[in-house]
Amino acid sequence: MQGFAGKVAVVTGAGSGIGQALAIELARSGAQLAISDVDTEGLAQTERRLTELGVRVKADRLDVTEREAFLAYAEEVKEHFGKVNQIYNNAGIAFSGDVEISSFKDIERVMDVDFWGVVNGTKAFLPHLIESGDGHVINISSLFGLLSVPGQAAYNAAKFAVRGFTEALNQEMAIAKHPVKVTTVHPGGIKTAIARNATVAEGLDAASMAEFFDRRLASTTAEEAARVILNGVSKNRARVLIGNDARVLDLLVRILGSRYQRLFSFAMPKFRPS
Ligand SMILES: NC(=O)c1ccc[n+]([C@@H]2O[C@H](COP(=O)([O-])OP(=O)(O)OC[C@H]3O[C@@H](n4cnc5c(N)ncnc54)[C@H](O)[C@@H]3O)[C@@H](O)[C@H]2O)c1
Repeated sequence: MQGFAGKVAVVTGAGSGIGQALAIELARSGAQLAISDVDTEGLAQTERRLTELGVRVKADRLDVTEREAFLAYAEEVKEHFGKVNQIYNNAGIAFSGDVEISSFKDIERVMDVDFWGVVNGTKAFLPHLIESGDGHVINISSLFGLLSVPGQAAYNAAKFAVRGFTEALNQEMAIAKHPVKVTTVHPGGIKTAIARNATVAEGLDAASMAEFFDRRLASTTAEEAARVILNGVSKNRARVLIGNDARVLDLLVRILGSRYQRLFSFAMPKFRPS
């Protein structure tokens, strides 16, 4: 992929799935990598793959919900590499459960990781990205940041919030004439560990929901997702959709407007394990 050679890229949640694939594809394209995750085993595996590719890599345990640690980490990365060009705020978790049976704690946890983790990463690295003269913020939302589905209210809320936050940031960078591009990414179903790592509201069966996601909903590989993201980044796209599922459903919702909710409330029960 063109345009990444010599860039310093930060990837959160790099121990698995899209984050791992992004780190590897960035390394193949000549970037230097600062990777992090709470899963130190997965992170070590990614670090090994990057080292084999011969790139400079800094690997750290980082929980994206820990704001002070994130701010200190940004300073460390800048000091280590001398500059920072790109941050991929990728770390995320999934949770399933209708609002009626979800606890406040369930919903707060999703917001903490999936929304506040992105805010923490963006704010911590923004001064360094501006200073680099060639910065890029890439925030991973979801297809579920474009439309809502039953059972995903917490995840929908976090991913819509990521989209709102990132789209506003994009305009602010342009108005301020800061040298920072901004991309929001909306993947459809990607074949990763996300559903197996997910939690569910009390009373639901996590294993059958994960099995259903893996079998019926995950259609694009993490490697393909990473290539689509980097292609969008290299073209400075404001919005990147991944997969036919994301493209078709996004179009459907734009055609139907708010009426999509009525259609989905009839159709969606078929897309959930009974
Ligand atoms: N897989 C999909 O179908 C899909 C679809 C749309 C959006 N996404 C988004 O893509 C991103 C990556 O997900 P994935 O599918 O690769 O899942 P994954 O579970 O394979 O990887 C997510 C990684 O994030 C890490 N993580 C979780 N909480 C963290 C925290 N507090 N601090 C740091 N790291 C943390 C996990 O340890 C894991 O390594 C997420 O933001 C997810 O919401 C995924």
